[in-house]
Amino acid sequence: MRRYHVTTFGCQMNAHDSERIKGMLEELGLGEARAQDEADVIVFNTCTIREKPDQRFAAHLAQAKALKGRDPEKVIAVGGCYAEAQRERLFELYPYVDVAFGPGSIPHLGEWIGAGGLGVPRGGFGLDERSFAGGLPMHRERRFQAWVQISMGCNSKCSYCIVPSVRGREQSRRPGEVLAEVEQLARDGVREITLLGQNVNSYGRDLLPEIRTDFGELLRACDAVEGIERIRFTSPHPKDFRRPVIEAMAKCDSVCEHAHLPLQSGSTRILKAMRRTYSRERYLRLAEEMRAAIPDLALTTDLIVGFPGESEEDFEQTVTAVEEVGYDAAFTFVYSPRRGTEAAVMPDQVPEELKHERIERLIEVVQRVAEARNRQRIGRIEEVLVEGPSRTDEAVLRGRTRRNTTVNFSGTAAAGELVSVEIEGATSTTLRGTTVAAVAA
Ligand code: SAH
Ligand code: SF4
Ligand code: F3S
Repeated sequence: MRRYHVTTFGCQMNAHDSERIKGMLEELGLGEARAQDEADVIVFNTCTIREKPDQRFAAHLAQAKALKGRDPEKVIAVGGCYAEAQRERLFELYPYVDVAFGPGSIPHLGEWIGAGGLGVPRGGFGLDERSFAGGLPMHRERRFQAWVQISMGCNSKCSYCIVPSVRGREQSRRPGEVLAEVEQLARDGVREITLLGQNVNSYGRDLLPEIRTDFGELLRACDAVEGIERIRFTSPHPKDFRRPVIEAMAKCDSVCEHAHLPLQSGSTRILKAMRRTYSRERYLRLAEEMRAAIPDLALTTDLIVGFPGESEEDFEQTVTAVEEVGYDAAFTFVYSPRRGTEAAVMPDQVPEELKHERIERLIEVVQRVAEARNRQRIGRIEEVLVEGPSRTDEAVLRGRTRRNTTVNFSGTAAAGELVSVEIEGATSTTLRGTTVAAVAA
């Protein structure tokens, strides 16, 4: 049997695309190889959001090139956002790559790889011919959790971001299609879904006038699907977080008490240069409004340090915003200039050394705040969806709370079960506890 190996470099959307890629390869009769060197078809699903994933990909590709040097029959396929960004010169840069494809052309992958004898490099790009991978086979890592793509592309113009140029304009999937997929997943035994889009809460705007819907309505419709006990979504944009979505979150039992709400910067001046279209004050008001409407809400975020022109004072504003909001977790990034974006050519780029000094300081504050938030959970009983044994200790179980915090706990339970766990300890990233009971279905 021919075997494939897929390496995923990017975000959850990228990981979800990998599930479709794997599903398609399995449909073609290939099996999954444990490692790259055991595979006949080596696939890289790339990301180009920052320089780091680009570099990781380059290292992996060098390894694959060496493998192909020893066995020229091996097929190297490069998909994802980096492939799309480099579409003009990918085969030129890497002549040993056999197949290249953008994130919008996964449905065609089978035609290129299935062709078998791949003498000629073939590629499939084209944002204008994009299509949803919704109908394709899918290889899910866990039988009780699933991602559901609700839109593709992004209409925002954040000045640092490469995504709109590699994923194209926003296009919403029809609500009927999304729901049909969710219902099928529920029949297959899925209990937790995560709705995916670059900007989930602007969902539906492009379907007008034919279909009148919004993200709040989609949440309610998913909530009504029997068997789905947890609904998550990522990422919303603060500018589109309107009343109906907050109300749907508050009303729907299955929608988890968690929102990942990317702030990026706490300085209104920098937010403006980033073209985020909200101010510090508006964001803080929104966070407050959400907390008031949704008891026990967990808020997490993305933060960028060292955006061009960021002064010490601007940076301090990001630090104080973290303290004011009280994030349960935050991803922190050093600003990375991306070719073709507006910010890459802005004057006053911040020196690398200063960026790194700032991110260290920010991480410290993020950890302190997150630990304090997690410590507040001690003594409580949390509903945990069991994911399996802990990564470090086979005897300990691991799962996540509705608020999306990882819990390591003792007890006996199978993956996919919901259990009640009494929280006994906390760090900045995890909770520790003991099972007290299975949650009644
Ligand atoms: N569409 C999502 C995710 C975008 S990428 C959203 O808007 O929330 C995930 C995160 O990467 C962003 O939120 C941002 O914090 C970070 N990011 C994007 N471009 C970046 C860049 N050029 N340098 C550093 N971080 C970046
Ligand atoms: Fe990028 Fe902004 Fe769109 Fe997110 S909302 S994908 S950060 S352009
Ligand atoms: Fe995701 Fe990276 Fe593309 S973050 S959308 S895989 S550039």
